[in-house]
Amino acid sequence: MSTADEQKRASALKALDYVEEGMVVGVGTGSTVKHFIEGLAAMKDRIEGAVSSSEQSTALLKAHGIRVLDLNAAGPLPLYVDGADECDPHNRLIKGGGAALTREKIIAEASERFVCIIDKAKEVDVLGRFPLPVEVIPMARSLVGRKIVAMGGQPVWREGVITDNGNWILDVHHLRIVDPVGLERELNQIPGVVTCGLFARRPADVVISAGEVRKNR
Ligand code: 5RP
Repeated sequence: MSTADEQKRASALKALDYVEEGMVVGVGTGSTVKHFIEGLAAMKDRIEGAVSSSEQSTALLKAHGIRVLDLNAAGPLPLYVDGADECDPHNRLIKGGGAALTREKIIAEASERFVCIIDKAKEVDVLGRFPLPVEVIPMARSLVGRKIVAMGGQPVWREGVITDNGNWILDVHHLRIVDPVGLERELNQIPGVVTCGLFARRPADVVISAGEVRKNR
């Protein structure tokens, strides 16, 4: 039985199969993506560069000599590779454990193919065991929290964490997410919510779990 980190690494290295000559690659955030960046570094001269989803990944990419491009300049991307905190059988995800959910969602939306790289522990039948991250404008924290309580969730402020966009994170506990698309829409409509960590409206196209391509949409 391999460790979680070995499974993450195996998934990250398998994702390199999707990288093609001359591509600009969208790059996510987290410990699984760190393995992907290390693999990408070995082929950096064959790609155009990367669009990064966080200051953390930007620093890592640059440290490996990989050119980092602005999404506005890069335009639509052929490929986005990122991890997840949970993944259901329909490739719908919870993300944002690393607080980078908003930029991650923007890049996923801008990408033709989203390859999600996970370890086995991230696979669930129903999303919601992992507390759902929601990025909020600071002045709206209490308002958004009250709305979420009315929806049956229990929001906990991730105190001390400021996102790359200057905002705060609420982690919502006790949600059993049977309608991820509906909940994503509902949460995103609350004034003050920047985005929630549900990736259901735009799920992953390919999920690689412990190095195995699990399912293509
Ligand atoms: C960051 C994320 C990450 O993809 C998620 O938290 C998984 O991280 P890791 O690969 O370290 O398990 O959504 O915002």
